[in-house]
Amino acid sequence: MTGWHTASAPGKFVILGEHSVVYGKPAVVLAADRRITCGVRRGKRNLLNGEPIEFSRQPHFRYLTRNLRHAVEFVTRSDIPTGAGLGSSAALAASIALALEDMAGNDPDERKLVDEAYGAELAAQGNGSPMDASACVHGGGIGVNIPGTEKRGLWRISRNGRVWNVSDVDVPSMTFVVGNTGVKAPTGPQVDKVRRFVGRSNFASEMIEEIGNVTLSGYDALQRGDVEALGRMMTTDHKLLSILGVSCKELNKLVNAALPYSYGAKLTGSGGGGCMVALTDEPEKVASVITARGGVAYVMGAGSQGARIERSVPDGPVFDIPGFVRPEAER
Ligand code: PMV
Repeated sequence: MTGWHTASAPGKFVILGEHSVVYGKPAVVLAADRRITCGVRRGKRNLLNGEPIEFSRQPHFRYLTRNLRHAVEFVTRSDIPTGAGLGSSAALAASIALALEDMAGNDPDERKLVDEAYGAELAAQGNGSPMDASACVHGGGIGVNIPGTEKRGLWRISRNGRVWNVSDVDVPSMTFVVGNTGVKAPTGPQVDKVRRFVGRSNFASEMIEEIGNVTLSGYDALQRGDVEALGRMMTTDHKLLSILGVSCKELNKLVNAALPYSYGAKLTGSGGGGCMVALTDEPEKVASVITARGGVAYVMGAGSQGARIERSVPDGPVFDIPGFVRPEAER
């Protein structure tokens, strides 16, 4: 494809600390081996996958093209289900941001990309931490606000009095199975729900604190390669998130089904639907029990490469991307 500038970025799954990270507590997130690829070129009209871009419905594109003085055409391809807590929004933002940088002739700069991707995330969901944007830009394993990781520090981002110190963390070889409930649950309302709960109850603030403690124990286990202890912390985290009100019966059903064959299991992302993740040595078994309970299972490799330049947008089946439903999507 001539004139195209193409980039991709991985999705992510949170193994510890979602929601509490919004309040500046620690979190651990891994880049997934599923990606969004985005191609961009100068055009006569603003087009997205051949359709006029509806900027009012596509906050990522609106935000990231805000400084352009000419029309652009985008094409996208995604392996990441949307609205499932797998970082489709941040991966979309990171891939668009890098493709646009390439079109502008700029050398890729992760810090700039993460600011762009986080800005697009905020434009799309209104609130939240830079955790997803960091994972989708940098890839690998990401720790947020983990004491002792300063030597591997990547960036410090602050907003509304909260500070997030983001660092690179080692990811030992592990197998995860992600189970998608198929229940769509956008991030913004879940984050708002927790904010209201925290605003009116000390009990909710204590849960946030407790998730922070569990995350630090789980991080230590991860660094020791102790999958049993890490799994236990993931399951404890799920219980705390349930008390916070962000699980649902479909998520609990998949977590309970996976647990007998896993070191641990929990919801991943903002919850209310979307996905759970299990840490296991028996991925086929876990995938089959998830499928038997009505979920869609993905055996997931962790620690994938971050945002990168690609030669082209591959053909093949696609998922929708946030804000864009394909007229004839193959799913
Ligand atoms: O559901 P996702 O993939 O957008 O994950 C959101 C993680 C939260 O901690 C709930 C929000 C955030 O921005 O950190």
